[in-house]
Amino acid sequence: KTVAILNGPNLNLLGRRQPEIYGAETLTDVETRCSDTAAGLGLETCFFQSNHEGEIVEAIHRARDEAAAIVINPAAYTHTSVAILDALNAFDGPVVEVHISNVHKREDFRHHSYVSARADAVIAGCGTQGYTLALHRIATLLED
Ligand code: DQA
Repeated sequence: KTVAILNGPNLNLLGRRQPEIYGAETLTDVETRCSDTAAGLGLETCFFQSNHEGEIVEAIHRARDEAAAIVINPAAYTHTSVAILDALNAFDGPVVEVHISNVHKREDFRHHSYVSARADAVIAGCGTQGYTLALHRIATLLED
């Protein structure tokens, strides 16, 4: 089974963007670690990052045919995007929402997530480890 790991705007700059908040690992480092973790869990991965809302919507549409589960960090679109929520509502498998930082410790505008209304689980504040924690949860949800 394949897990689609989707990342939203500015996460292409991971490792270089506000490292005091988001850490030193690059997105490529995170993706490599996710592949390794997924392999250990008997899962495949596919990765997509975009700075454009509609492209993330379309990646979720593709996941309907190509993936059994989604791990998504919608980044700033978390707090604004009904379109991403609607796309996720049209996806049948487990969805885990990941935030590298603890959004609840930050500005008020980061406290609300449209995506959480669909997510089976939300991980925030675990750094980039949140992605591999999400994969462990997905493996459990796919077993049930
Ligand atoms: C983020 C938190 C969001 O509020 C922010 O806009 C991001 C990253 C995180 O991973 O902590 O770009 O989703």
